[in-house]
Amino acid sequence: MDLLLLEKTLVALFISIVSAIAISKLRGKRFKLPPGPIALPIFGNWLQVGDDLNHKNLTQLAQKFGDIFLLRMGQRNLVVVSSPELAKQVLHTQGVEFGSRTRNVVFDIFTGKGQDMVFTVYGEHWRKMRRIMTVPFFTNKVVQQYRHGWEDEVAKVVEDVKKKPEAESHGIVLRKRLQLMMYNIMYRIMFDRRFESEEDALFVKLKALNGERSRLAQSFEYNYGDFIPILRPFLRGYLKICKEVKERRLKLFKDYFVEERKKISSIKRPDNDKLMCAIDHILDAQQKGEINEDNVLYIVENINVAAIETTLWSIEWGIAELVNHPEIQKKLRDEMDAVIEPGQQLTEPDTHKLPYLQAVIKETLRLRMAIPLLVPHMNLHDAKLDGYDIPAESKILVNAWWLANNPANWKNPEEFRPERFLEEEAKVEANGNDFRYLPFGVGRRSCPGIILALPILGITLGRLVQNFELLPPPGQSKVDTTEKGGQFSLHILKHSTIVLKPRSV
Ligand code: HEM
Repeated sequence: MDLLLLEKTLVALFISIVSAIAISKLRGKRFKLPPGPIALPIFGNWLQVGDDLNHKNLTQLAQKFGDIFLLRMGQRNLVVVSSPELAKQVLHTQGVEFGSRTRNVVFDIFTGKGQDMVFTVYGEHWRKMRRIMTVPFFTNKVVQQYRHGWEDEVAKVVEDVKKKPEAESHGIVLRKRLQLMMYNIMYRIMFDRRFESEEDALFVKLKALNGERSRLAQSFEYNYGDFIPILRPFLRGYLKICKEVKERRLKLFKDYFVEERKKISSIKRPDNDKLMCAIDHILDAQQKGEINEDNVLYIVENINVAAIETTLWSIEWGIAELVNHPEIQKKLRDEMDAVIEPGQQLTEPDTHKLPYLQAVIKETLRLRMAIPLLVPHMNLHDAKLDGYDIPAESKILVNAWWLANNPANWKNPEEFRPERFLEEEAKVEANGNDFRYLPFGVGRRSCPGIILALPILGITLGRLVQNFELLPPPGQSKVDTTEKGGQFSLHILKHSTIVLKPRSV
């Protein structure tokens, strides 16, 4: 067995060397490739740049090689763009050409090789999935149908925190309770279901499997096998774990949620659109033969990864910044006290009358962008960008964090200053109307969840500041905002302990 592996490895090594030579010839002759560090055979630039290609490291490389540069990560081409003009080219002008997603050995497992929507290539399947998901998830009607439920979920957070005396004295890790809230918000939309408490056995199981999936997918551990195909046999153990997690997770979605909902609606089929939850619409599409059962489960999988943690990270960052900037927190509270009737709790319609709250949200998404490199894009065919040739199937990263934090384009970008969005940047919206600010991307593959994420952020941060004074724990003047990045996520390294002092509304 080992001999066979060795033999295969040697053959593959030979093929890799030959193809590396061929590619370096191409680099020199036919293709005009973007600039970048000189690549070694087989490893490319991987040994020079390492695994952790986070937004900050990529910014440093952009300063050396320019707004477009190419890294060869083993056999994979990685093109990084770092200017608003080039972001516009990738996401808008050539949105079709660069509208696919990259394949990688781990994501292939979790998405059944692109049977989902988020990670599938640009084409018929993606269009169909995005269309089917729009009515149940991504319209203002959904916001209006569910916003009372969201307000109710945040009210329950406030209530639970008030019941904990330590919240007011030593502080608590609020994130844990907010995570339950985010699951409830999304599971009410998807399945008309909620979990009673953080101890609910099904919630615990679901959270653990989703956490495991995120850890496995976001880790840099598997890069070597992805970049250098001959090393893939050594990834066998890792990929086996990924397959097990994927199967257990899809089975959980199927057995406990999809099948349950089918049973409920077979007894009492909601004939009114208002009573239909998202999965009813998705199952209708399955019944019409537009999608199959696997696609249904991958839609549930996509919402679990795309919606819950991203919004939670942003809420977490918002809270950390408000704790560390008491003057901004006070200004926000004063705005709410002035606009909302005494004794009333903030509602979704109120959020539209609170420009400072909107500015706090925008500033959080700018400085602490949850997906700082967007979800990687890919060109299915050879393409051109800024006069350079981009070989087919290159991974294209848009450094959206740098676009929104480049001092050449923003005044003191390192400062958390919501006022910028009421002053010099008053016209900039989160929907991509300005290519310097793309927290949700823009164009065909942009985030359709923005329509839900912004009001959820508004209601949550608003109600917390309305009901509590948010402070660092005793003896600390600030909470730690060290960042932790994954393959394409950015979150806070240590979940903050914060003190919540109730105030009377
Ligand atoms: C603050 C919260 C969120 C942030 C910062 C965020 C950000 C993003 C970003 C940057 C992308 C990739 C854009 C690109 O590649 O060009 C994306 C894609 C996506 N997001 Fe979000 N998102 C958030 C919340 C949500 C929510 C709540 C949902 C669903 C309810 C959602 C569903 C999706 C989906 C389905 C895609 C893939 C779109 C496609 O490939 O066509 N997101 N998101």
